[in-house]
Amino acid sequence: MKKLLLITALGLSFAFAGSVAPADNAQYQKECASCHFGYQPALLSKASWEKVMGNLSDHFGTDASLGKVESEQILSYLVSNAGSGKITANNSTMQITKSPYFIKEHRKIPAKFIEQKEVNSIANCLACHTTADKGNYSERAIVIPNYGRWE
Ligand code: HEC
Ligand code: HEC
Repeated sequence: MKKLLLITALGLSFAFAGSVAPADNAQYQKECASCHFGYQPALLSKASWEKVMGNLSDHFGTDASLGKVESEQILSYLVSNAGSGKITANNSTMQITKSPYFIKEHRKIPAKFIEQKEVNSIANCLACHTTADKGNYSERAIVIPNYGRWE
C-alpha cells in the first residue's frame, strides 16, 4: 500500500516532463475523440478551451456542434483541467499547435515527415507520439513513420 501511494505521488509530481494528465472523461472521449484523438485538457489554457467550445459549429472546416447541456458539461471538464505553464504560455488561440513552446519543440522535423499520408497534420499527435493517448509525450516514445525513433 505504501509503495502504491509513493508511485502515485511520483506520477503527480511529473506535472510537465513531457507528460500531462490523461483525458479521463467518458463524455469528452465520446464527443471529442472521434475525428481526432482526445487532446488532453492540459494542452490548452482555459481561454483557449472557451474559444474552441464557443465555435463548434465552425470547427476547423467541420461542424462539431453539441447540445447545450453536453457542451456545457464538456466545457466545464476542460476548463477545470486546463493547462498552465510552458506548454500553454502565450497561446490563447484554439490550437495547441500554435503555442510558441509547441512550435519550438517541433521546428526540427522535416516537412516531408509531417506531410506524408501516415501523419498528414502536425495536430495528429498519436502518429508520432506512440503514447500520446496516455498523456505521455516523452522523447523515448516518439517514433516517426518512415523515419523511426527520434534521438
Ligand atoms: C466532425 C469531426 C470533429 C469533431 C467531432 C471534433 N473535432 Fe476537433 N478538429 C477536427 C478537425 C478536422 C481539426 C483540424 C485537425 C488538423 O488540423 O489536423 C480539429 C482540430 C481540433 C483542435 C486543434 C488542434 C491543433 O492544435 O491544431 C482542437 C483543440 C480540437 N479539435 C478540439 C475538439 C473538441 C474539444 C471537440 C469536442 C467538442 C472536437 N474537437 C470534436 C474535427 C473534429
Ligand atoms: C511528425 C511527428 C510529430 C507529431 C505529429 C507531433 N509531434 Fe510532438 N514531438 C515530435 C518530436 C520529434 C519531438 C521531439 C523534438 C526534439 O526534442 O527535438 C516532439 C516533442 C514534443 C513535446 C516535448 C516532449 C518533451 O519531452 O520535452 C511535446 C509536449 C509534444 N511533442 C506534444 C505534441 C502534441 C500535443 C502533438 C499533437 C498536437 C504533437 N506533439 C505532434 C514529433 C511529433
